[in-house]
Amino acid sequence: MRNFVLGIVITILVLLIGGLGLALLGFLPTRANHAPPDMERHFAMSALDNSVERHAPRLNNPVPPTDENLIEGLKIYTMNCALCHGGIDRQPSTLAKSFYPPAPNLILHPPDDEEWHVFYVIRTGVRYSGMPAWDKTLSEPQIWKLTAFLTRVEKLPPSVQDYWKQSSGAAPPTGTPEGHDHE
Ligand code: HEC
Repeated sequence: MRNFVLGIVITILVLLIGGLGLALLGFLPTRANHAPPDMERHFAMSALDNSVERHAPRLNNPVPPTDENLIEGLKIYTMNCALCHGGIDRQPSTLAKSFYPPAPNLILHPPDDEEWHVFYVIRTGVRYSGMPAWDKTLSEPQIWKLTAFLTRVEKLPPSVQDYWKQSSGAAPPTGTPEGHDHE
């Protein structure tokens, strides 16, 4: 039994050291200019989702979703996020596909996660991807306004929709099958 356990430990060590060795010898791919394989994408997305489930505090959004706060969220989005995640003019971001993994279009495909989940991802970023942590750049109330906006992109109140149209010339997505966009 002792030898069996020892065998397992040694095997794990050999795999680990072998893996590190291969990485140091330059066998790990580092190119970011192609889409991740499906298996890698599914694995990474599940790992990310489950890690956020495990680590993120279950907070309620302290910022009420008033028209003013939603418009504020829209402005913060346009200034900081549209470059990678697509603008409110509904044009795709030119950079989105240059990241590994690519940056999702948050206007055409807004997040359907709970607000505490979205808040956590924005505040802490996503390691091994191009998604920055925003806790050093934006204040918590600003991140909550962004969260309120992003989780309501398809169901904004009329006056916020008007503001959106006036500032971009495009209508906000409604999430209905007719109005549904494909990238
Ligand atoms: C420099 C490019 C870049 C900027 C700027 C950026 N992001 Fe990201 N973001 C990414 C990338 C790349 C990913 C994909 C990470 C992944 O798939 O794991 C991502 C992922 C996300 C996700 C997770 C989506 C999901 O599938 O769960 C959210 C939410 C998000 N970003 C919000 C924002 C917000 C809000 C801002 C602005 C404050 C922002 N991002 C700014 C590159 C960026």
